[in-house]
Amino acid sequence: MNPQKPLILIIDDDESLRDGCRQTLERSEYIVLTAGEGVEGIRLARENKPDVAFVDLKMPGVSGMEIIEILSKDIPDIVLIMITGYATILSAVEAIQKGAYDYLPKPFSPDQLRAVARRGLDHRNLKIETRRLREEKERMEKSFITFVSHEMRSPLVVIRQYIESLKAIAGDRFDKDVSDIIARCSIRIQKLEELIEHWLDLSKIEDGTFVQKREPLELSYVILRSTEEMMPTCKERGIFLEVNVPENLFQIVGDEESLVRVFINIIGNAAKYTPESGKISVSAQNGEYYVTVNISDTGVGIPQDKLPFIFEPFYRAGGKEERHRGSGLGLTFCKKIMESHGGEIGATSKEGEGTTCTLKFPIPHPGAKKVSEAPA
Ligand SMILES: Nc1ncnc2c1ncn2[C@@H]1O[C@H](COP(=O)(O)OP(=O)(O)OP(=O)(O)O)[C@@H](O)[C@H]1O
Ligand SMILES: [Mg+2]
Repeated sequence: MNPQKPLILIIDDDESLRDGCRQTLERSEYIVLTAGEGVEGIRLARENKPDVAFVDLKMPGVSGMEIIEILSKDIPDIVLIMITGYATILSAVEAIQKGAYDYLPKPFSPDQLRAVARRGLDHRNLKIETRRLREEKERMEKSFITFVSHEMRSPLVVIRQYIESLKAIAGDRFDKDVSDIIARCSIRIQKLEELIEHWLDLSKIEDGTFVQKREPLELSYVILRSTEEMMPTCKERGIFLEVNVPENLFQIVGDEESLVRVFINIIGNAAKYTPESGKISVSAQNGEYYVTVNISDTGVGIPQDKLPFIFEPFYRAGGKEERHRGSGLGLTFCKKIMESHGGEIGATSKEGEGTTCTLKFPIPHPGAKKVSEAPA
């Protein structure tokens, strides 16, 4: 057989129709196989992997619908076309749901047959090309992650260590301006390292290699850990951090470390975008299906037209109050972690007044015991 020529299989119990189709298609440079019933048709399809198969809907024995269902599962790239004398919308919909691409109502002319066969082959080529491109994209993303972590992260760690050694060995001999330059280099390197870490984490979440535990968690403890960690930053910036979380919150299921990072990111944002003597409040309450946590600040706020984009990667709302550098990946990370917990994240804000970030955690078994009631 010539591998260049498309292979078409006709499964129909009407012999004259089969012969007619064969002649028409062979004249158009296709290779044609035919079968008069379902079992033989399925065998031929499995052995020869045709590009396109025309399948009669009504046949004695195995029905066309069953053949379509079987072949669409067995041979992923095959394009299946239903031939039918009773083209009802319902049968067409059912065939398409079972994996058919198109249908050809009887009686049809040689031109119609050729047109449908051509369309089927074009569709097959597109399907194969799309899959190839998707695989190529996945491959490139994977090798990009490896490139970023090996070629960028590792040298950065080494540079940071050299700077630290430089400070330790000769720090006391530097003039103030030299020390300042070295300190600025350290900060930039640290920011770059953070960006790369965030970026790698996001890629890992996307390709499913970011490991997260699934264990019962006391959310009040997770919040407490995060607020304790953020307290020094808030103090340093002259911001009051108020925590109002009841101890009887429902247990949730999730990964403690990832959730601590979510809270630190959000409280960190609140601290970054709130001027001195402002306030950050963290509160939580049980609902029927969710535990809701609100993190509010009295900061610069986010303009309404920018609010829908803050969870997008690398998006930064900016504005005249922008004093702090960031990568714009923090909230993207939080959103992905919340989604992986079956939860939600959202924000409301008023420019010049403040922002509230709301996290909703699903309660695993609504009606379950609250933490304080659960056995120790
Ligand atoms: N509490 C807040 N008050 C005002 N603006 C905020 C607040 N939280 C987020 N934003 C805005 O949303 C943008 C996106 O936040 P996100 O945490 O993703 O990035 P970032 O803080 O700029 O950088 P990083 O990746 O270091 O967290 C911020 O740049 C800021 O403009
Ligand atoms: Mg941030």
